[in-house]
Amino acid sequence: IKNIAVLTSGGDSPGMNAGIRAVIRTGIYHGLNMYGVYRGYDGLVNNDIEAMDAKSVANIIQRGGTVLKTARSDEFRTYEGRKQAYENLKKFGIDALVVIGGDGTFTGASKFIEEFDIPIIGMPGTIDNDLAGTDFTIGYDTAINTVVDAVDKIRDTAESHDRVFVVEVMGRDSGLIALRSGISTGAEAVLIPELTVDYDAIMKRLDKSRSNKSSRIIIVAEGDKEGGLVVADKIKENFPHYDVRVSILGHIQRGGKPTCMDRVLASRLGVAAVEGLIEGRRGEMTGLICGQIQYTPFEKAIKHIKQVNTNLTRIVEILSL
Ligand code: F6P
Repeated sequence: IKNIAVLTSGGDSPGMNAGIRAVIRTGIYHGLNMYGVYRGYDGLVNNDIEAMDAKSVANIIQRGGTVLKTARSDEFRTYEGRKQAYENLKKFGIDALVVIGGDGTFTGASKFIEEFDIPIIGMPGTIDNDLAGTDFTIGYDTAINTVVDAVDKIRDTAESHDRVFVVEVMGRDSGLIALRSGISTGAEAVLIPELTVDYDAIMKRLDKSRSNKSSRIIIVAEGDKEGGLVVADKIKENFPHYDVRVSILGHIQRGGKPTCMDRVLASRLGVAAVEGLIEGRRGEMTGLICGQIQYTPFEKAIKHIKQVNTNLTRIVEILSL
């Protein structure tokens, strides 16, 4: 391998820039020529590719978003699009790719490898933490800290007004953002798609906790069947005298400076991605499991949604008195 390109695809996540920097500089360290592809797979199809050196990635480790920009590409979903992408790579003499993203990114990469001779290694970049093969994805730690910061602020006003707040957080089909941020903000209940919601139990808990506290916070994962607004209606139906408000945090969760954890994770995985390609790996995602670098085939990384740790859900219940 002589020439490697890196791209970011799907929803952006804080720490992607640290990952890009690590990939480019590791390649240069090993004497390779490095390229950046703009706007994910769209840039591959449309030949938006640029040579990068150590300076191109200077002063980006601390920045949120992705300097390479990102997209969810429709063209790359077609065979013609992928063929065009491969031809563009060949024009530059690029013989391997690092893709940073989530399950859509790795599904595209798997298809590409099946049809064309191009080694690809993936790096998990999504705030949702919904990939197997790594304990944490790049961006998850920053996102949960953003949620914690927002909910702490909501708690201040909730407490002043004796209110119940329903806070809806991102995560697509996964409740992992909701669960950890719920524990760390002392939420009275956390509703996640992985578990059936026992509304009776939640209403009892809300009622019971009333004597101990004047504000109550329920974190609802966006993937929950009902969603924040419906959950708030149910609470109002049960307790018409409660003053209930809803806050949907939205895309604020995707931005901001990456935390130290995300910068270190992205740096470690970037080095592992390039060195994995040099060792001859392909079709795998780099991840960190119990502190150790691991490589997991794309098919496994995307199909096995992480199991929810029921010890964590118990903690919410025990501590919500
Ligand atoms: O996958 C990251 C994520 O932020 C999810 O949590 C959310 O469901 C989705 O992307 C939102 O996507 P978009 O920015 O395209 O609306």
